[in-house]
Amino acid sequence: MKNLAILASGSGSNSEKIMEYFQHSKKAQIALVASNKADAFVLERARKFKVPSFTFTRKELDAGLLLQKLQEEKIDWVILAGFLLKIPEDLIRAFPDRMVNIHPALLPKYGGKGMYGSLVHKAVKSSGDTETGITIHMVNEQYDEGKIIFQAAATVTESDTPETIAEKVHALEHRYFAEVIDSLILE
Ligand code: GRF
Repeated sequence: MKNLAILASGSGSNSEKIMEYFQHSKKAQIALVASNKADAFVLERARKFKVPSFTFTRKELDAGLLLQKLQEEKIDWVILAGFLLKIPEDLIRAFPDRMVNIHPALLPKYGGKGMYGSLVHKAVKSSGDTETGITIHMVNEQYDEGKIIFQAAATVTESDTPETIAEKVHALEHRYFAEVIDSLILE
């Protein structure tokens, strides 16, 4: 049985889908939900699934507290699902090819510093692009530049707003993220 930890800063709708997907898995379990926000709704969702949670400050993250916790809990894979802080390099190095992120656009477009959440969808809208989507990728020291594992696209029409684009992207995330994680984990 592999142990997965989810790192999330916000609502955690993706985290919920992942917890739901793996709750009866014989291959992997969500052993921890960790957040830098003590009031993030993802913690509520973790409680619902009886998944232990852990909160930390940016300072504690940089001081290695999360890495220590992940090691204590014997975590094999780290899943970033809307985690907004920069991951310290020693943490990334501790999970080589074992740390996965989801980005709400078709990387390499709309990636990099400052490109997160609604800012991504606003940028897509103002570009006039006719498609957007999701990218699931490995995390390396270059953040949004790790190896791409999976992408799925959605059409953007003229009548779409950043909000409706976000809905389309979320639907793709909820449809695919857990399955893609599952396909990466070797027994
Ligand atoms: C998702 O769109 C994800 O791609 C991005 O942050 C958002 C998190 O949404 N990185 P939620 O908290 O899972 O609802």
